Amino acid sequence: MSDNKLPLPFPRILLGPGPSSVSPRVLEVMGRAPIGYLDPELFEGLADLQSKLRMVYGTANSTTLAMTGTGMAGMETCLANLLEPGDAVVIGVHGFFGGRMVEIAERLGAKVTRIDAEWGKTIDPEAIRTAASATSDLKLIGVVHAETSTGVRQPLEPIAEIAKEFNALFLVDAVTSLGGIPVEVDKIGIDASYSGTQKCMGAPPGLSPVTFSDRAMSVFANRKTKVQSWYFDIGLVNNYWSGDHMYHHTVPGNLLLAFRESLSMIGEEGLDARFVRHETVSARLIEGLGELGVHPFAEEGYRLPTLNSVIIPDGVDDLSVRKELLTKYGLEIGGGLGPLKGKIWRIGTMGESASIRNVDLLLAALRKIIK
Ligand SMILES: Cc1ncc(COP(=O)(O)O)c(C=O)c1O
Repeated sequence: MSDNKLPLPFPRILLGPGPSSVSPRVLEVMGRAPIGYLDPELFEGLADLQSKLRMVYGTANSTTLAMTGTGMAGMETCLANLLEPGDAVVIGVHGFFGGRMVEIAERLGAKVTRIDAEWGKTIDPEAIRTAASATSDLKLIGVVHAETSTGVRQPLEPIAEIAKEFNALFLVDAVTSLGGIPVEVDKIGIDASYSGTQKCMGAPPGLSPVTFSDRAMSVFANRKTKVQSWYFDIGLVNNYWSGDHMYHHTVPGNLLLAFRESLSMIGEEGLDARFVRHETVSARLIEGLGELGVHPFAEEGYRLPTLNSVIIPDGVDDLSVRKELLTKYGLEIGGGLGPLKGKIWRIGTMGESASIRNVDLLLAALRKIIK
């Protein structure tokens, strides 16, 4: 071991695009002896998880649960249950993850109109409206709320209005927003949304919270064809979570109960206080980085407090900085995706990772490395 390297394994401070750090309280639940998937104690925990998840999502939707699988499982669940071959959809793409929505909808046989925005900017609702007007029988409009690839926060209300106007379902990717900034499903009029446990929710990766409005569930109930995916069929999964508790698959009980614990922590902190914490920590980071000549990438006014995208200054080597941060200080930050590779850093201040202490440690380390 050389002087400037920490022994491995050592605890990381996760300030990348996810996963984020997990509290010992949540980890303790992960480490408990497993219980069976039909154990009444597990069902008690799941019912509690659902009610707490509804609070975070700002919804009364009865179909609000956690799919087994990461955020992509939620994306597939929403699209596979709501779309049938030939359905017309409009998807706004302002980064990497919007592109994935398009890819999945196309694989399901939907006719997709893709509305692109420059990476780093928001999607123009008027472009969505124009596409919606040009589409007959529009079934769904989909957007990513918090584009993790660019650090942009997409305003949802204007697009929700358009979905309402065209009687289309409104699908929102809330992977990097849920638990970090308000999502407000019922207030905004979101019909389906998915997230991930590993970002602002304070739990490890492996579950994808989803919620479906009654309208979305009636579209599901009136399908002409079976859901293309058996594993992600929301009707089958719902039968396990509620009603008959019918076996569907061996759910990861420890992970679900650990997620319930992180939801309890969110409730104890209070959603509003949690949103303020994310804003405060992000503001401190951006201010400190500014003093180092590192400036935000995302459009002003639409910057996420959960994922801070910043421009790598000229003459600074992306990979060597990130390597030094990780190996010398145990600090993880993310690099750019796709066209932004080598151009930006993506610094997550999410969930348990969003603390002034973590940001000050990162700034102190960067001050040494960058100068
Ligand atoms: C906005 C967004 N959507 C979807 C995903 C996919 O989630 P996962 O990697 O957990 O499958 C991610 C992951 O980073 C994301 O940031």
